[in-house]
Amino acid sequence: MPREPILSAESIEAAAPASAPSRETLARLRDDEIALRPRHMGEMVGQRKVAERLAIAVDAARKRKEPLGHILLDGPPGLGKTTFATCIPRDLGVALQITSGAVLTAPKDLLPYLTNAEEGSVLFIDEIHRLPKAVEEFMYPAMEDFRVDIILGEGAGARTVNMKLRPFTVIGATTRTGLLSAPLRDRFQIREHLEFYSIAELSEIIRRNAARLRVVIDDEAAEKIARCSRGTPRVANNRLRWVRDYSTVKANGHASLELTDAALAMLGIDELGLDPQDRKYLETILRVFHGGPAGVEAVAHTMNTATDTLTDEVEPFLLRSELVVRTPRGRKLTSKAYEHLGETPPESEPELPLFQ
Ligand SMILES: Nc1ncnc2c1ncn2[C@@H]1O[C@H](COP(=O)(O)OP(=O)(O)OP(=O)(O)O)[C@@H](O)[C@H]1O
Ligand SMILES: [Mg+2]
Repeated sequence: MPREPILSAESIEAAAPASAPSRETLARLRDDEIALRPRHMGEMVGQRKVAERLAIAVDAARKRKEPLGHILLDGPPGLGKTTFATCIPRDLGVALQITSGAVLTAPKDLLPYLTNAEEGSVLFIDEIHRLPKAVEEFMYPAMEDFRVDIILGEGAGARTVNMKLRPFTVIGATTRTGLLSAPLRDRFQIREHLEFYSIAELSEIIRRNAARLRVVIDDEAAEKIARCSRGTPRVANNRLRWVRDYSTVKANGHASLELTDAALAMLGIDELGLDPQDRKYLETILRVFHGGPAGVEAVAHTMNTATDTLTDEVEPFLLRSELVVRTPRGRKLTSKAYEHLGETPPESEPELPLFQ
């Protein structure tokens, strides 16, 4: 089979200019999210160790006037990957381009971003685990040597052109480091994993954002929202917005503990911060799979939900809360989950290893 040209002269011309972030990306950076998103790393709450390490890397790059090493951020949704990726270039004083692995379907989609990258600027690639193999391979020399190999033309007339790029920094974000190929992962000099936030950190975020959203919130009410936010700032902000709306209608914009309890109860959020979807997951394992072990695909099918939604959004917090465990044979409820659902845990039976 003749080798597919990676890029043709026409496709390079046709490729969209990379100066503006894609429409999808803009949609994801919803207006109000932008309003609450910290603008500098110094404004971020929590993730102290990660922020300190990144601040040193940023300072060093600035002092040496060299581009920052490529950075890979991973962790469950809503913990601050995009926030770090937007704060870092601002702190560095360099330009930022934003794209996503989901929209870079071929090398020609990535090329404009690479050629537009100014010296020392940042290219943020969200959902980097979704990059197709061909795009990933196209990135290797771009990240390592700041050059790309472009094949122009087809068949016997094809020739490779080596194009030099200005040194730049890739910041990749993923909820799934496991899906990244080793060669791509190894090209990131700095790799950071984001963890869930403590109640104190979330309370701080909520208090700060309450002022921005012009709602008066009592400290106990802020802590209550923090406890119900699954260790996640995005969830905390969403709950806070709901409490603000509720308090606007019911209490002239003053969120007391009592009012916050009522607002959260109306959303079906329980005292562990689980929402109806989390409880449906636990109840499905309990009733359909007799407490497990159950394969996550089977649970997803039964719930009529995508497996990715369960593994990326629902399970990380339930696992961390010790409501579910992963066994070699599948997901299993813990006695804490039984108690939370008001059921009696079964007599514990030893878990058999998978292969015996
Ligand atoms: N450390 C922090 N301090 C204060 N607010 C934060 C922090 N981290 C995140 N947030 C808030 O949470 C929101 C969600 O964070 P962000 O978009 O960075 O998450 P993400 O990890 O990129 O999620 P996803 O995987 O879904 O893309 C932000 O808009 C911001 O308001
Ligand atoms: Mg993000």
